[in-house]
Amino acid sequence: EDRNLILAFESSCDETSVAVIENGNKILSNIVATQIKSHKRFGGVVPEVASRHHIEQVTYCIDDALCEANVDYDDLDAVAVTYGPGLVGSLLVGVTAAKTVAYAHDLPLVPVNHMAGHIYAARFAGELHFPALALLVSGGHTELVYLSGPYDFKIIGETRDDACGEAYDKVGRVLGLTYPAGKQIDEMAHKGHDTFHFPRAMEKEDNFDFSFSGLKSAFINTVHHADQIGEKLDENDLAASFQQSVVDVLAEKTVRCLKEFPVKQLILAGGVAANQGLRTRLDEELQAFDDVELIKAPLRLCGDNAAMIGAAGYEAYLAGIRGGLDLNADPSLEF
Ligand code: KG4
Ligand code: ZN
Repeated sequence: EDRNLILAFESSCDETSVAVIENGNKILSNIVATQIKSHKRFGGVVPEVASRHHIEQVTYCIDDALCEANVDYDDLDAVAVTYGPGLVGSLLVGVTAAKTVAYAHDLPLVPVNHMAGHIYAARFAGELHFPALALLVSGGHTELVYLSGPYDFKIIGETRDDACGEAYDKVGRVLGLTYPAGKQIDEMAHKGHDTFHFPRAMEKEDNFDFSFSGLKSAFINTVHHADQIGEKLDENDLAASFQQSVVDVLAEKTVRCLKEFPVKQLILAGGVAANQGLRTRLDEELQAFDDVELIKAPLRLCGDNAAMIGAAGYEAYLAGIRGGLDLNADPSLEF
């Protein structure tokens, strides 16, 4: 058989995930054990709690992934694993599990950058063509990444303070929403209108960077001020105004980037790529670019999962990237 099978691990934050990926583009299994319930009452991810859950879940996830894919260790060609960026204690569980499997079954170990994984979630929506530009929006990152080839990443712009998803989660907290708040705000936004006109930081500045902390503060101040004077604000309008500001800035900067760096595809990926307002807006914006195809990570693969690590891992495997048994977690890993 000439099919390539990769066993992939993801444990950078609050999902323990193991997947079996065939030829870099077919999901045979993608087991995701989420811990969200355990973190909800704390309003965010508690690193110590997260590592503990990963340890408890990871072996079951491996068994389930192999079983569902109907694959045995002997059938595998490589083991791919997220080794950063993320929470160090969480990353270490995946890295240790992957190293153990690779050593025990004499398989090559392929280290994968979590953000490269997010980009490669789009591989399940169609073939990738280069050069490409990726708008990467997650709970920890907001970046415009230029890909001259399949495994060649260059950051062109990034947030100078909060990540986009982080801003969603923080304003959600002020509205009394549970963590993570992105999806809930997205849904509320569709029932409201941009009546507050929050700032659009750096929108007109001649660079490709972002800033979301000013927007977050404007939102929080508006809510607190209304509380003090006993005024009741429309929460759907608040959500819609916040989202409009985020989407305007992301869209404007991305369009400017596309004009300066001609590419074949625009890839939308990361947890916030699930945002309906953003997906629709980019669809509209891309109509002005005849030669650029918009490729969006499938909705169910926008959040953290091992399938995307398997897809990126396949490209890294082909590129000859290997990790030894001394592979370590790198919490602040960059491209
Ligand atoms: O990529 P991800 O699963 O984890 C990280 O690597 O950070 O992203 C999680 C983030 C959270 O901040 C969550 O609120 C946000 O993605 N998110 C959304 C939506 N769905 C998830 N933000 C806006 N709109 C959504 N529909
Ligand atoms: Zn992520």
